[in-house]
Parts: sequence; C-alpha cells; structure tokens
Amino acid sequence: MDETFATRFTCKRYDPEGRIPDEDFALLLDVARRSPSSFGLEPWRFLVVENEGLREDLLEVAWGAKKNADRTVVILSRKGASADSDFVERTLREVQGAEGEALSQRRDFLAAFQRNDLPMEGDDDRLLEWAARQAYIVLGNMLTSAALLGIDSTPVEGFSVAKLTALLADRGLIDPDEYVPTLIVQFGRKDASHFEPVQRRRKAQDVIQVVK
Ligand SMILES: Cc1cc2nc3c(=O)[nH]c(=O)nc-3n(C[C@H](O)[C@H](O)[C@H](O)COP(=O)(O)O)c2cc1C
Repeated sequence: MDETFATRFTCKRYDPEGRIPDEDFALLLDVARRSPSSFGLEPWRFLVVENEGLREDLLEVAWGAKKNADRTVVILSRKGASADSDFVERTLREVQGAEGEALSQRRDFLAAFQRNDLPMEGDDDRLLEWAARQAYIVLGNMLTSAALLGIDSTPVEGFSVAKLTALLADRGLIDPDEYVPTLIVQFGRKDASHFEPVQRRRKAQDVIQVVK
C-alpha cells in the first residue's frame, strides 16, 4: 500500500495499445459519483468521452491532456447551486428524500451557510468556485482508486475553460448556463519506453505539524 502512493505519478505519455478493463473503469466512475460533497449536493456531472472526433477536438483545447489515454472523463461543475435554486430543491427532495419541514430546514441551513460562513450568496462566481471545489474531491478519489487498481492516470487542469465550454455546448453536451468543465481526468497504461520521473515531494516534517 505504501509503495502505491510513493510511486504513483502523473502519466505524461500513454501506450496507444494500453487498455484498462471495463469493470475497473466502471469502478472509477462509481467512485466518482459516490464522492462526498458539501451538503451532499453533488454539483457535478461526468462526460465519458468515447467519441473519437470529440476526443481529438478536446486535445486541441486541452494542452494538458495526453494523447492515447484509454479513457477520458470531463468533470463538469454545476453553476448556481444557491440555496433558493431549483437544483438545490430537486437535490434535497429527489436525492436526499427531504420533504416539508425537513426540506425547509435544510434549505435554510444552507442559505445561512452561503450568506454568513463561506459567503457566496448572490455571487455566481463564488457559487461556481464552491461547486468546483467539490470536483477536486472527485478527482482525488479517482486518482487514488486508479493507483490502487494499478491504472495510470493524468489529472488535467490544463485547458481553456472558454474553449472547452464552447466545444461541449456546440455539440449539445452541456447547457453552458448550467454546467462548466472544471477538470479532465485520463486513465490508461503508460508508455513503458518513456521515462516517468520519480515522485518528488517536500519532506513530511516540512508540511506536517503536530500540535500537542
Ligand atoms: C488539479 C491538478 C491539475 C493538473 N493538471 C495537469 C495538466 O493539465 N497536465 C499535466 O500533465 N499534469 C497536470 N497535473 C499533474 C501535476 O503536475 C502533478 O500531479 C505534480 O507535478 C506532481 O507530480 P506527480 O503527480 O507525478 O506525483 C495536475 C495535477 C493536479 C492535482
């Protein structure tokens, strides 16, 4: 287990023939959708890019993404997840099963949080930023799970949000008023002939402080 985390790396070059089993990929998607999120709102959607044309177009706008990855997922973040939105109403009702008094209590609690604690009320940028933070939890879970499954992976922030949004909107895959791409994550098998550098990190004592 220790070795898994000491040796995992961001794959920079994939083997074009490298495949990962469908059941492993299905597990990674399950890990994604089961990730925790603030207030359980799950402010995300996942686009699994199997279409060859879209994959090529995506590489044009995403300089950080790699060619030849077996699987590519775009993590989308929900805009406008404010306490008074339909999105929140539906999530509380349909996903969390809240009704009546319980529903209004949860909504009020969220409203107070968005007004006072992590202020974002009435601020679309901050609301989106909050949703995007939840996407990084998904990313972390997927990367860790891939490492445990022995699958190589690449987290990708390296893309033009405007261009990728336009690309996905043009293809009718997102309504840009509702969703924005936050991250791309790729999986596959590394090109064994390519040297992947050893993991470099700060020392534990430089980043971990035990307060007694
Ligand atoms: C949120 C996030 C975004 C990243 N975006 C990219 C990217 O666009 N392209 C890339 O090659 N690597 C990307 N990386 C990989 C980092 O550069 C890498 O994790 C870091 O340098 C440590 O190296 P390691 O993952 O190999 O241990 C990203 C990592 C994270 C966590």
